[in-house]
Amino acid sequence: MVLETAAPALRASRSTLRRARAETTVSIDAPSSKLAGISNYSNKLGAMQIVIGNVLSADDLAIVTAALARAHFVDGRATAGFAARTVKNNRQADDRKLETVRKLVTERIMGNEVFRLAVRPKALTPLLFSRYQDGMNYGSHVDDALMDGLRTDVSFTLFLSDPESYDGGELVIESASGDDAVKLAAGSLVAYPSTALHLVAPVTRGRRLAAVGWARSFIRDSARREMLFDLDTARRQLFAREGKSAEYDLVSKSLANLLRMWAED
Ligand code: NI
Repeated sequence: MVLETAAPALRASRSTLRRARAETTVSIDAPSSKLAGISNYSNKLGAMQIVIGNVLSADDLAIVTAALARAHFVDGRATAGFAARTVKNNRQADDRKLETVRKLVTERIMGNEVFRLAVRPKALTPLLFSRYQDGMNYGSHVDDALMDGLRTDVSFTLFLSDPESYDGGELVIESASGDDAVKLAAGSLVAYPSTALHLVAPVTRGRRLAAVGWARSFIRDSARREMLFDLDTARRQLFAREGKSAEYDLVSKSLANLLRMWAED
């Protein structure tokens, strides 16, 4: 259902994005919304960045946050490269007992239709659960190009804390057209090209929990991922409007053949 409504969702999402820029906070509607799935979509050339609402349900969130409340957290610098280490100040869960929730969250992300269309993931690195409080932040950095033997094409942050419960903690993604500060409802995810510099602003009140991860995409280049996403969205909208028409077949053919041309499997 998400897919058939993707095109109007994109139109709606552009105004959401403008609002988001003004307020630095994006709020996302309930899953019953017709636009569930795509709530925000940035169309900056070569900087495909997407916000997906309700990746985790309220029940999922309760399970994940309960597990994190019991988890043991260690200094996040352990998983940062030599330069990022100098600007990284957070805590990361270090607990084998989290394997069950890590699996649950990974399944929810990989099972999300919009994530699959926007990111075209081949594989994900193991998720990290991070915690920021007491002024912790993560200064500007670029993520490692290779992690656990995977090329990182898309970075993502799944917000786990209610944004009203903490101050600061925005994920700020830098691009040629300016910085985007993103702070989402618990259970919502932002995905952005791993090529971008980004930072996490200091958390000055409360506690910010998040799951972060990286995808190796079948499509390395973000501008190409964006074209495939737009074509796929248009194709599904066409199908919803007129069924399997000749035009739908032509767009589908081009989409499939572009995917064949560009995919690195
Ligand atoms: Ni990072």
